[in-house]
Amino acid sequence: MGFRCTWLANSPSKKDIKNYGNELIEVPLIFICSFLCSGQNDVIDSNGSNSDVPDLENSKTAVVYFSATSNTMRVASCISTYLSVPLVEIVPKEKYTGDDINYNDSNSRTSRENADSSIRPEIENAIDADGYDTIILCYPIWFGKAPKILWTFAENTSFDNKTIIPVCTSASSGAGSSAVDLHNLTGKGTWIDAKRFQSSVSDNSVIEYIDSLRLKK
Ligand SMILES: Cc1cc2nc3c(=O)[nH]c(=O)nc-3n(C[C@H](O)[C@H](O)[C@H](O)COP(=O)(O)O)c2cc1C
Repeated sequence: MGFRCTWLANSPSKKDIKNYGNELIEVPLIFICSFLCSGQNDVIDSNGSNSDVPDLENSKTAVVYFSATSNTMRVASCISTYLSVPLVEIVPKEKYTGDDINYNDSNSRTSRENADSSIRPEIENAIDADGYDTIILCYPIWFGKAPKILWTFAENTSFDNKTIIPVCTSASSGAGSSAVDLHNLTGKGTWIDAKRFQSSVSDNSVIEYIDSLRLKK
């Protein structure tokens, strides 16, 4: 399948794996990059004692999501129901049709959006992020990244003093730099590491992750 190849394109080849000479350089580089990037994501620690842990009782939390084929919507709605917090959809002004999301067609709308870094699909609804301190931001992975409409959302939202918990679904890719890309677009807020779920993840696994965050309730 054409697209599958696209999102697996960045996986290391057997040749790369055998290339120990380069690995010696790449491994320290990965550590250096992780260290430099670590300041961009304030990760909530596992015992929940970090002061960044959102306090659900004394702060306002919302689950904000974009979904084209309902997988992310299911995850978002599960989180919203479990935490009893509002569920807010990012609605595209121009809905995505089946043809639009055909990743096998290099000229489909989503392929073109992916290829052009300046494209920002318009959002139909006004999302009052100002009313929330914590945003659980759910989106699918498209071409290894967050869909461009998330870029529109990030650029038009003030994340000052907010905690953002990115959650994504995909067929096989990891979250990659999807959340770091969004954080870089805004430069604001406390972003924790993105959590990626398989498209057909069970509600129990989603709840298990939410519990692992030890959000103060
Ligand atoms: C345009 C497009 C691009 C996609 N790119 C990827 C990808 O790079 N990696 C991957 O694992 N899945 C990819 N997928 C699959 C979706 O990430 C997956 O089906 C996701 O759960 C869809 O969420 P949704 O139903 O909320 O839209 C892509 C799907 C579409 C429509």
